[in-house]
Amino acid sequence: MSTRELLADSLTRARERTRRLVAFDDDELRRQYNPLMSPLVWDLAHIGQQEELWLLRDGNLEVPGLLPANVEGLYDAFVHSRASRVDLPLLTPKEAHAYLDTVRAKALDVLDGLSGDADWFRFGLVVSHENQHTETMLQALNLRVGAPLLGAGTPVPAGRPGLAGTSVLVPGGPFVLGVDAADEPFSLDNERPAHLVDVAGFRIGRVPVTNGEWQAFVDDGGYRRRELWSPRGWEHRGRAELVAPQFWNTGDLAGTRTRFGVVEAIPADEPVQHVSYFEAEAYATWAGARLPTEIEWEKACAWDPATGKRRRYPWGAAEIPAAANLGGDALRPAPVGAYPASASAYGAEQMLGDVWEWTSSPLRPWPGFTPMIYDRYSAPFFDDVATGDYRVLRGGSWAVAPDILRPSFRNWDHPVRRQIFAGVRLAWDL
Ligand SMILES: [Fe+2]
Repeated sequence: MSTRELLADSLTRARERTRRLVAFDDDELRRQYNPLMSPLVWDLAHIGQQEELWLLRDGNLEVPGLLPANVEGLYDAFVHSRASRVDLPLLTPKEAHAYLDTVRAKALDVLDGLSGDADWFRFGLVVSHENQHTETMLQALNLRVGAPLLGAGTPVPAGRPGLAGTSVLVPGGPFVLGVDAADEPFSLDNERPAHLVDVAGFRIGRVPVTNGEWQAFVDDGGYRRRELWSPRGWEHRGRAELVAPQFWNTGDLAGTRTRFGVVEAIPADEPVQHVSYFEAEAYATWAGARLPTEIEWEKACAWDPATGKRRRYPWGAAEIPAAANLGGDALRPAPVGAYPASASAYGAEQMLGDVWEWTSSPLRPWPGFTPMIYDRYSAPFFDDVATGDYRVLRGGSWAVAPDILRPSFRNWDHPVRRQIFAGVRLAWDL
């Protein structure tokens, strides 16, 4: 497949995904399910606005666009907080759909006109952006109270017993952290450049921590034992009254969770999700472990000590879908052991897909960092910026599109967040 075909295909797939998540009536699309999330109709028009800006206007807001400037301004994520978007005079769903169609038709014309040595990057950026928003929309839909809108999800493979709590060894030594445009042309600025890093040996979970293991932490008083928590984590635990992962039910419904409106027994062998960084940290302490740094995580995922080279994916160069739970249709992680073919060179499984994995690392630029055309993607969130209070998450969740995920991909969020599809993989010093 040529780069042009690949991008056209990815754009189409992203749009099909978006459409599935807004296939509801106008009232539904304008609702705000939770102050942490936008109404779905905001995401919808914002997806079109960013596509228009980057593909039709060269990223330049001074170039007149299809929307009046005051309307376009409603979709600036840096100006309007998620909590406030429901009160804005947004485009109607019908207007938003028409706007997206117009932009897409023009964008595909531009793509058609590109030659073989063109700079394809901004198309990849737009693919990434739309897919990142569909994951956010899934977070919103999961917070929605009411009868299920999306069903219970497509089947996932069965797990293998005996893997929970086991670990694999990653011997010490240097490896190549990050990627370059030559190898990963659609990698984003914070993943670059590739550079050599020395890492002390460590052990890392063969699979993510499961619900069953988390239940043991709860039963052992994990949420009540101050010594397991960091001072900030303990303070947050008290204020937010945390007693279990988000969406785990209590009272008469104890032992169940609510997932996209479906109430069901909590599957013991599925990776835990909807835990904050602070909870992940406390769990790790309870388990006699720690969270991996993101550098350790990337080495365990991508490095092949036999060849002294990075692998494109943990399992090698083969395309993603066969070996990972991605794409959003499952609406949940797969049980641990569901993807034996996903093992990295060191034997760690399910590093891509299923759940984002909290790492202990704040978001920092790699040495030699250069902002990309969209210079507000990473730099405003770095740790050395006054407002920066983020931890890096790795590996993608079941809700991430395979088109945009790489072992080098870095996500970040506030340490209190748990509506995201995030879980935990433990690490140990040798
Ligand atoms: Fe956005």
